[in-house]
Amino acid sequence: MTRLILLGPPGAGKGTQAKRLASSLGVPQLSTGDMLRAEVAAGSPLGKKVKAVMDAGKLVSDDILIDLIGHRIDQPDCRKGFILDGFPRSLPQAEALDRMLADRKLKIDRVIEMAVQDDALVERITGRFTCAKCGAGYHDKFQRPKRDGVCDQCGGAQFTRRADDNEQAVRTRLAAYHAQTAPLLPYYRGRGVLATVDGMAAIDDVTRQMSRVVATVGAA
Ligand code: AP5
Ligand code: MG
Repeated sequence: MTRLILLGPPGAGKGTQAKRLASSLGVPQLSTGDMLRAEVAAGSPLGKKVKAVMDAGKLVSDDILIDLIGHRIDQPDCRKGFILDGFPRSLPQAEALDRMLADRKLKIDRVIEMAVQDDALVERITGRFTCAKCGAGYHDKFQRPKRDGVCDQCGGAQFTRRADDNEQAVRTRLAAYHAQTAPLLPYYRGRGVLATVDGMAAIDDVTRQMSRVVATVGAA
């Protein structure tokens, strides 16, 4: 049973590493960004409400996110644990998560901070693309598919880029991270669950660092 939070600025590699950890631990990746993008793509009332805020790179309101994640962690696939990617992102969200877990007699095992310098992030984000069919993530420079134009995972040939992956929205997302999300670092450090990995390292190396942190869960 492992419950993790991945914490880091836009482009830190949360999604990349959450997918790897989810498959090695056999627990779901709960990406609030992916959940909200699915609502936007489906044209649901929630999607219509959040699209402009997301495209601008601002945070969606706490109430919406708390509701979204509250329903998700009660799904049967979360019984064995989960990896939160992109939630919580503000103190009210962290406090609400604490209450939700306490009500269910559960707790977070580790919060893993992925530390990356701001100037690396714009390059990472503007080079990112995703398989339209299976959602596998790639990068023009750092993580190219083995065969150009063909997804390694599913053989798909269509790729998408996110509406908020332009330089202006990235700068707004980064400002939101520093103002609203970074205060969670001392919050979780004070609870003794924070671990930090060097997110500037190569992708496989970051995975190894994270696996070492996860291996300490349950250790005295
Ligand atoms: P979200 O989808 O969570 O976006 P984000 O936090 O801005 O993070 P990203 O997904 O851009 O980056 P990542 O850390 O996952 O990096 P990745 O692994 O892809 O949220 C989007 C929006 O939704 C928010 O702006 C907000 O509007 C809303 N939202 C979501 N949650 C919310 C919440 N809780 N509250 C309020 N609003 C919320 O990597 C990036 C690229 O770099 C990839 O191409 C990858 O291949 C490459 N890469 C990864 N690791 C490395 C490495 N070590 N070296 C080189 N390249 C690397
Ligand atoms: Mg992501």
